[in-house]
Amino acid sequence: MKPVKVGLLGLGTVGTGVVRIVEGHQEDLQSQVGSPIVIEKVLVQNKSKARNISVSADKLTEDPWEIVNNPEIDVIVEVMGGIETTKTYILEALSRGKHIVTANKDLMALHGPEILAKAHQHGCDVLYEASVAGGIPIIRTLIEGFSSDRITKIMGIVNGTTNYILTKMSQEGADYADVLKEAQALGYAEADPTSDVEGLDAARKMTILSTLGFRANVALEDVDVKGISSVSREDIAYAKRLGYEVKLLGIAERQDDYMSVSVQPTMVKKTHPIASVNGVFNAVYVHGEAVGETMFYGPGAGELPTATSVVADLVAVVKNLKLGVNGKQLGLTYKEKKLKTDEQ
Ligand code: NAP
Ligand code: HSE
Repeated sequence: MKPVKVGLLGLGTVGTGVVRIVEGHQEDLQSQVGSPIVIEKVLVQNKSKARNISVSADKLTEDPWEIVNNPEIDVIVEVMGGIETTKTYILEALSRGKHIVTANKDLMALHGPEILAKAHQHGCDVLYEASVAGGIPIIRTLIEGFSSDRITKIMGIVNGTTNYILTKMSQEGADYADVLKEAQALGYAEADPTSDVEGLDAARKMTILSTLGFRANVALEDVDVKGISSVSREDIAYAKRLGYEVKLLGIAERQDDYMSVSVQPTMVKKTHPIASVNGVFNAVYVHGEAVGETMFYGPGAGELPTATSVVADLVAVVKNLKLGVNGKQLGLTYKEKKLKTDEQ
């Protein structure tokens, strides 16, 4: 039972959760994959920083190449965030035959096609379940669960930070800036929370979901985006008096060769189930021609929910290693097909 060795890039909110789950569920993980899963090295920015998890000092490094170029390491789990530098590490790791698990929607929404093409070239897996909707296994569901159907609509709350803010503003009349600080302290917000509140994080997630759901190449520029920074307590109170809640909704619709994808604050009737999705929770509706309407609900951000998805991807990579089928899974690549938007 040769151990599978993992290089972890990042030991913040999600990285900490990954260490906790890999260590805490080790016996159960081993029983599923037949080998120990060992976190061999962990990349951080600052080794001396105080952390709320104990990782032995010899495992921590500030040098990414100790992981990316390390021949001992089989799988890289990327939970450091960022785009260009991270992309460089991932492309280099793929060229060395390492499999990748990432929670990075910014990277996958912008450079997914290039990364997946490189993975294909080198027979590697790149799995990114945690990049959308935290603990809800929505990516696997779109690829596998709906492979038999034609999806016509994906709609939902895909950003936990803004839903947390809107919920607190609605239920407690809380101040926008105060609640944003709370969401940051809870580890829900991005390093730069502008991408949460201005809708960019949700737009990146909708790019990924609509690409997979519509089996077409959707670009971030195809998404119309408006965030919640201009939504006031008064707007929310007024909507409530009329029987509505304000939610930041991502909506992707497809008809034949046309599609529209948007992210915007939306008044949702209180009787609609999505109006009751509160706090950091996300919900994604998927409408398929054959199945009709389905809904998926769960925590959209945070340490352990997000790490659950990351470690599930890690298990999938290790299972593929055992079967010798890495890089061969169907449906995980972006397609060349492009749908038209109204502007085209
Ligand atoms: P975080 O708490 O800010 O942690 C980032 C970690 O990466 C830190 O340990 C940091 O080191 C390290 N790091 C960052 N840049 C680095 C660099 N250039 N070189 C070396 N180490 C670097 O971030 P997070 O919330 O865990 O999020 C990580 C990723 O998961 C992001 O892509 C995010 O979008 C995604 N994600 C987050 C959530 C969530 O709920 N937080 C949910 C889904 C997806 P130090 O500790 O030394 O500073
Ligand atoms: N900042 C993101 C959110 C993290 O609040 O939804 C999960 O992707």
